[in-house]
Amino acid sequence: MERDEFIKSLGLGLALVCTGTCLSSCGKSGNDGPDDKPDPGPGNNTATVDLSTQLKAVGDQAKVNGVLFFRIADGNTAAAFVATESICPHQGGSLVWKQADNKIQCQLHFSEYATNGSVLQGPQGTTGNTRTLKIYSTAISGSKLTATIA
Ligand code: FES
Repeated sequence: MERDEFIKSLGLGLALVCTGTCLSSCGKSGNDGPDDKPDPGPGNNTATVDLSTQLKAVGDQAKVNGVLFFRIADGNTAAAFVATESICPHQGGSLVWKQADNKIQCQLHFSEYATNGSVLQGPQGTTGNTRTLKIYSTAISGSKLTATIA
């Protein structure tokens, strides 16, 4: 093989590798937007946390099967906890509980929500395009806190 032919074949091979990589990446969806509903798995409409190891202190939070649980008061009664969506309905940002500010906050565009799910502030400080969060009913059995996703 002549030097020129070798260089040309090397360039063609490199181009094929790059094209394959680009096409492979383009086939994947980067951000499909918010998943409107948590996914607890087939045949299951609940998400559960173990209170013997999780949510022990006021302000603690946990995400299970697309549900954000957090503790707002002492004691193991259902009223001491909130269960809501873990994904922001605006564009799929991660929601976290901010105990010190008494609000749920999106980590992507910083929408803020009250514990009843109502919108306190829209994306980027606007009154923009988001909706009230779903708040799931909770029940305690033994050390298990279960949210029913409806
Ligand atoms: S994704 Fe939450 S405010 Fe945009």
